[in-house]
Amino acid sequence: MSDHDFISGTKPIPLESGEGPYLYSTDGTEYLDAGASYACTPLGHSHPAVVEAIREQVGDLTFVDSSYPVDSRENAYAALVASAPDGFESAWLCNSGTEANEAALKFARSSTGDSKIIAATRSFHGRTMGSLAATWKDTYKKPFEPLAGDVEFVPYGDSEELTEAVDEETAAVILEPIQGEGGINVPPAGYLECAREVTEEADAALVLDEVQTGMGRTGSMWACQNVGVTPDVLTTAKGLGNGLPVGGVVVRDWIADGAASHNATFSGGPVVTAAVHATISTLLEEEWPTHAAEMGEYLRGELEATLGDEVREVRGEGLLVGIELKRGANRAARDLAIDHQVLALPAGRTVLRLLPPLVIDTEEADRLVDALAAVIAPDDP
Ligand SMILES: Cc1ncc(COP(=O)(O)O)c(C=O)c1O
Repeated sequence: MSDHDFISGTKPIPLESGEGPYLYSTDGTEYLDAGASYACTPLGHSHPAVVEAIREQVGDLTFVDSSYPVDSRENAYAALVASAPDGFESAWLCNSGTEANEAALKFARSSTGDSKIIAATRSFHGRTMGSLAATWKDTYKKPFEPLAGDVEFVPYGDSEELTEAVDEETAAVILEPIQGEGGINVPPAGYLECAREVTEEADAALVLDEVQTGMGRTGSMWACQNVGVTPDVLTTAKGLGNGLPVGGVVVRDWIADGAASHNATFSGGPVVTAAVHATISTLLEEEWPTHAAEMGEYLRGELEATLGDEVREVRGEGLLVGIELKRGANRAARDLAIDHQVLALPAGRTVLRLLPPLVIDTEEADRLVDALAAVIAPDDP
């Protein structure tokens, strides 16, 4: 296996099964999955409750469009809305995170009658034309310009600049409660509260993109609950179906009308909604968000204690953890995988990102820290 393959994004690790936080390659090697395949398996791989729900549903009715009531779909919608903070009345399911954000921006425009979107530097909201327009990095955007949308970027975390940018022509402010792809950036205290206040004053929608932060990862079901800010639109995907392709847009009443003319053929198909219902129910009944808060604190504490001097910063919330390295993150991820059978993800050039399934225990967290210590401080005597 060559370094080049790994660093260019093709990991030479042929996988065939998974259980909990572990993945197994075809030669039987066990890998500790500290990336949860980009946060898509909060309950761990092939969780029995989700597998069983999918199996049952696929045999009964694999697909029927969303104009027919089906228990699986209704249960998933009810569970998703109930899991959100008070004030949300309805939801719409789609197939991915970018599609959820695309819909959120459309809903905000049709509900407000305005078109301007405010997004943040270092944001990532997806790769379709509208979500991409609200994404910061030029490397994702340049080849596809012009993009869809009148988007103004403000520095992430700067309340003053945000306040200045929002006006009566603003349809929406779209923010990640903690930025994921942009490097695990936690905003300063009061920032999301300010976003709530200024959007309310301007009759604009506050869209919180919880595609990466949601589903219990930051210690609450949704990261906005950590700071008591209720947006007008909350978007989700990744872990929503514990690995099945599904996204969701949860909306307050005044936005729901603006959503009426939007749909997609595969919206809320019975098999993915069986997975959504099983995932949300299991997460909440077994209190995995609380476990994520505790394990996150433990993991970040151990990382600080072990690597404090070797890295620039350890940051994050719950099990959304970023380690700002003094070296390239791609290479560190490669060394962790090949030499220590630990799978982590880069988030930008120098940030290593840990998004393990929420079910990891202290022993697995210790294994992770030991592997990181070996990779990050290998030259120490
Ligand atoms: C915060 C955030 N929003 C949106 C997306 C896009 O999701 P998807 O890849 O499912 O389209 C991502 C993916 O990384 C994300 O992290």
